[in-house]
Amino acid sequence: MILKGNVVHTPAPDQAEVREGAYLVGDGETIVGLYDVLPPQYRGQPVTDYGSALILPAFTDLHLHAPQILNRGIGYDLELLPWLERYTFPTEALFADLSFAETVWKHLLNHLWEVGTLRFSAFVTVHKEAAWKLMELSEASGLRGLIGKVNMDRNSPDSLREDTAASLADTEELICRARAELNHTGFILTPRFVPSTSPALMEGLGRLGEQYDLPVQSHLSENLSEVDWVARLHPDIPTYTEVYDRFGLLRQGKTIMAHAIHLSPGEKALLKERKVTLAHCPLSNANLSSGIMPLADNLALGLDCCIASDVAGGNTAAMTSSITSAVQTSKLRRLNSPEAPPLPLATAFYLATHGPGRFFGRAGAFLPGYSFDALVVEPDPLDALVERAPLERLEQFLYHGDSRNIAARYCAGALTPRPFPSL
Ligand code: GUN
Ligand code: FE
Repeated sequence: MILKGNVVHTPAPDQAEVREGAYLVGDGETIVGLYDVLPPQYRGQPVTDYGSALILPAFTDLHLHAPQILNRGIGYDLELLPWLERYTFPTEALFADLSFAETVWKHLLNHLWEVGTLRFSAFVTVHKEAAWKLMELSEASGLRGLIGKVNMDRNSPDSLREDTAASLADTEELICRARAELNHTGFILTPRFVPSTSPALMEGLGRLGEQYDLPVQSHLSENLSEVDWVARLHPDIPTYTEVYDRFGLLRQGKTIMAHAIHLSPGEKALLKERKVTLAHCPLSNANLSSGIMPLADNLALGLDCCIASDVAGGNTAAMTSSITSAVQTSKLRRLNSPEAPPLPLATAFYLATHGPGRFFGRAGAFLPGYSFDALVVEPDPLDALVERAPLERLEQFLYHGDSRNIAARYCAGALTPRPFPSL
């Protein structure tokens, strides 16, 4: 596989590399190299020439809620806890109906494909059948997903509250089934958050994590009322972060914690030690008045961070919006914290491609040995009237573009068509 075009990617957080008219060469699922002149051994092989179009790494979204795609753009006059009660839980309860779930999942996967998110980590609902259906459909889609059945057995509505033993048994069944039947789709342990997960359930999930060496995803310190609630639920444990740690749920280098806004220095030190990935969700944090994660400080401390959509706290799954929102948020934060530098756009792009791609091994940049994942991006006819440098084209795509600008998508070495074209 050889593609030619104006290649832009971020080999490092502070480095955007631009290679105009370059050749991206892949072998099977993997990138061999990026060349200005095609090496002799590849001459005579077919080249897909995209002219002046951009070739970008595809996006990775490490925090979204699959069922909440139905709620995007709804309920943002509320803060987190009433928003969950009023909007999120009733919608998630609908996923007891498997055929309803199947239809939503197909639309969701089509949508992720459209916006160029080819790798993701998703919360489903508590429903085992709906979770398995999303795993199967994701496998068929050509995208690469980590998918977790949500666990919740306390402080939850009757329609979603699980029996602790049944929650663990359902989870283990999905883990084993995914291992036996799927190649490209992984199971990720998904305790919703501390308030809805009892100590017995967290302990059981920690044990499953050890036994099957699984990744974990959850929410951490998103909202001040939530943080207070956790302190009241666990008066014997000093911090929210330590509650997860107490139950073995900060699995070394395999854990995603969304939001992570209101943290003490000690919590940050523990998250760094455990190599937890902190998913910054700026759209969600603004919509639900949650706060501003001090991303620049966290990066400077050496914490592993990424940018994620948190649909439907976030109002869109398009990572272009989350990237630019992270930059805009950093500029506003600066008004109150003048020492905090604004987030460079290239770094924000890194945090939605190469940074989170590492959760899948090697993905998200055009480096040898990385997965061959790419988007081909063309300007609107209006924008094409003016000459622009590739970095300006990228900036314009991120701030103003949408799925109509994406002419082709490659995932793991394959040109990937719309997953469910008949919808
Ligand atoms: N905390 C617990 N559940 C949720 C959820 O569904 N969305 C967000 N944003 N935060 C949560
Ligand atoms: Fe979330």
